[in-house]
Amino acid sequence: EQARQIQQTLAEFRLSKTQLLEVKKRMREEIERGLKKSSHQEATVKMLPTFVRSTPDGTENGDFLALDLGGTNFRVLLVKIRSGKRRTVEMHNKIYAIPIEVMQGTGEELFDHIVHCISDFLDYMGMKSARLPLGFTFSFPCHQTSLDAGILVTWTKGFKATDCEGEDVVELLREAIKRKEEFELDVVAIVNDTVGTMMTCAYEEPTCEVGLIAGTGSNACYMEEMKNVEIVEGNEGRMCVNMEWGAFGDNGCLDDIRTIYDQAVDENSLNEGKQRYEKMCSGMYLGEIVRQILIDLTKRGFLFRGQISETLKTRGIFETKFLSQIESDRLALLQVRAILQQLGLDSTCDDSIIVKEVCGTVSRRAAQICGAGMAAVVDKIRENRGLDHLDVTVGVDGTLYKLHPHFSRIFQQTVKELAPKCDVTFLLSEDGSGKGAALITAVGCRQRELDA
Ligand code: BG6
Ligand code: GLC
Repeated sequence: EQARQIQQTLAEFRLSKTQLLEVKKRMREEIERGLKKSSHQEATVKMLPTFVRSTPDGTENGDFLALDLGGTNFRVLLVKIRSGKRRTVEMHNKIYAIPIEVMQGTGEELFDHIVHCISDFLDYMGMKSARLPLGFTFSFPCHQTSLDAGILVTWTKGFKATDCEGEDVVELLREAIKRKEEFELDVVAIVNDTVGTMMTCAYEEPTCEVGLIAGTGSNACYMEEMKNVEIVEGNEGRMCVNMEWGAFGDNGCLDDIRTIYDQAVDENSLNEGKQRYEKMCSGMYLGEIVRQILIDLTKRGFLFRGQISETLKTRGIFETKFLSQIESDRLALLQVRAILQQLGLDSTCDDSIIVKEVCGTVSRRAAQICGAGMAAVVDKIRENRGLDHLDVTVGVDGTLYKLHPHFSRIFQQTVKELAPKCDVTFLLSEDGSGKGAALITAVGCRQRELDA
């Protein structure tokens, strides 16, 4: 009877192919809403223009600084790109911590901290006086009107610094550099991490025209026809669109598949009501869904002898790396128990079996709905080009995709099943989005020279 009730709870997370096709269909509807001028304002999937009009062609050249803010690590990078027959990219980078007080303090503190890290990096590289062009990977939704202007629509994930929403973050960075009075930099481009990832991968593989992040957050970008990007003037060629698909469902269109556990995760978050799809499929939230289910099963007396420990009440205990360990096939149940022990959860053997099944069910749904979103994207590209069959490459990054033992496989399987007319190759980005940001900066610099 206990087993039956647990299965009943988990059944809500098991989606049928019909349901997944429905998710794909709704994603497609939201894509259209975001692209159309008449509905862009109120659209939840914002389809933000990036002013990146092509993938790299190998002629990019020069030395660039890049910042990479918004994922697990904050990095400052120096990227040296050489064009020609034997093109090369040389990268140097340093990781810096962003304390939670800074992520959630004032905007001025956040940007001062960023500039402090740049200053340290320039000292470290001995390049204080170089006045390099800089590309800023900023992994949040920004309303762009050019390559080097981006108004922050809203913070997502774990950030909540004041006085930034509605502001141009490039200006905030420039002002902070001025305040410091130590060095000069030329901020040339603001780049979403999906776009940086697509460009990094496209430098190696020209058929790459889509970028995917399955990490702390979840998002995708792709090359859309200019004539469909209605809020930007002009009909010729293509432009990369940052979908901001994490906000899919914020108008209620996923309510029928959201569970009470998803609602609890949302209520406990920094941004209630927002990023509902992201909260069902990205690394920052999967562990929280698991925790909510475990709390409920414990309350009902099915787990941990009915005792809700302090640990279980703690937000964020199940990080992606723990879920990945727990779900690893090579791990014996005894080891699962050891991990739970480490987290301060005293479990029996039966408990660990249940915990493992809960984790597997939650991450499977995540991979499937993420795959349904991607299926909508590749089919859209195929239809744009009037093709019966499309071959395309997707550049991918993110800790969930890279660390989790099953996510990538289930994700790929789902895309294949839901978009059978597309042959999709997934290419892992090894170099992060900083490299892509530098490539975009190179193009931006060349354009400036032409315009001058
Ligand atoms: C990295 C990018 O490669 O992937 C980051 O350079 C990005 O900017 C990240 O945000 C996504 O992964 P995660 O899992 O760290 O959020
Ligand atoms: C969040 C951000 C988005 C980013 C994604 C992955 O969804 O809003 O801009 O691409 O996380 O990091």
